[in-house]
Amino acid sequence: MKLYKTKIQGTGKYHPEKVLTNEELSKTVDTSDEWITQRTGIKERRISDLSKDEHPSGMAARAAKEAMKNAGWEPNDVDCILFATTIPDMMLPNTASMLQAALGITNNCACLDVNAACTGWLYGLQMANSLIQTGVYKKVLLVGTEMASGFNNWEDRSTCVLFGDGSGVTALEAQEGDSESFILDSILGSDSSKRMALAMPNGAAMSPITHEILDNKEQYITMDGQVVFKNAVKTMASHCSTLLRRNGLTNDDIDWFIPHQANLRIIETVGKLLDFPAERVITNVQKYANTSSATIPTAMHEAVMDGRIKRGQKVMLAAFGAGLTSGAAILQF
Ligand code: ACO
Repeated sequence: MKLYKTKIQGTGKYHPEKVLTNEELSKTVDTSDEWITQRTGIKERRISDLSKDEHPSGMAARAAKEAMKNAGWEPNDVDCILFATTIPDMMLPNTASMLQAALGITNNCACLDVNAACTGWLYGLQMANSLIQTGVYKKVLLVGTEMASGFNNWEDRSTCVLFGDGSGVTALEAQEGDSESFILDSILGSDSSKRMALAMPNGAAMSPITHEILDNKEQYITMDGQVVFKNAVKTMASHCSTLLRRNGLTNDDIDWFIPHQANLRIIETVGKLLDFPAERVITNVQKYANTSSATIPTAMHEAVMDGRIKRGQKVMLAAFGAGLTSGAAILQF
């Protein structure tokens, strides 16, 4: 069977206009800029405005238009949309179909939502790469978008300070023959024994919304921060080590490391465990907080646009999220 290579042909991102700083947040909930900065590195986040269509498909449409423009694609070139998100536009139809409509795609391309929380875009990358490598699709739009403000309890200081809204989109294209751009390797996993450490247990099939749930404000995200922290650093570091080892690479071969942007302490700890130089770690969590499945594609887009990431360079990615899902990948950009 003929095998193709997967090239990131274009990238794009969108963050809502509304900025919510730590100082502003500390006026409505018992927290402080000092606490948030020290524990997470986050200074501000963006918050969606539904009257401006800043819902998942609306944010993704803006990011996708930029990614497709950078890739040189027309809407009907897209063969498949993989839409990683935790909170969809609606329970039905899926958000990938909402995006197909928003982009004016009329070729009936395949549309699938991927829910692996913050690891969603990385899960989508392995799926897209498999579909492209085997010749099933030539052009895949891979989306990571989160409207985290929809699952935040704005009265719970232990979670609401951590998250933000945004979208990152990647246009992935099949390459024949020699290509300097390809996905070298990836690894995914999930430790379901810790699945309730990060959860939104109410509002779906097992526990439909009731007046009692709403009165008790139990429709939001719940988290055991320390379990998540420990698992995040352990799995991201071990996945990266596995990928480096099985591809005969060392840190010196990796030009850039883009870890999931949950918080700076996690990123720094993973960097230390891997002994990876901090100046080659890309971060944007300070400006946008944790935008879940959108963090890696938005950070990648920023680094591509400002000239840090160049064609042919090796980039290592790692993520973790609810599930507890986790993964890593190494690609040649
Ligand atoms: N402001 C001020 N004080 C706070 C805040 C806040 N926003 N939040 C908690 N505190 C208080 C607590 O009440 C506690 O007070 P106490 O000692 O009087 O009881 C104290 O700060 C320490 O709380 P801890 O939870 O022990 O703080 P910790 O050092 O563990 O930091 C944090 C909390 C930042 C959440 C950390 O555990 C962490 O980074 N965990 C990972 C979280 C994460 O990344 N989640 C995203 C997962 S990805 C996804 O899929 C969505």
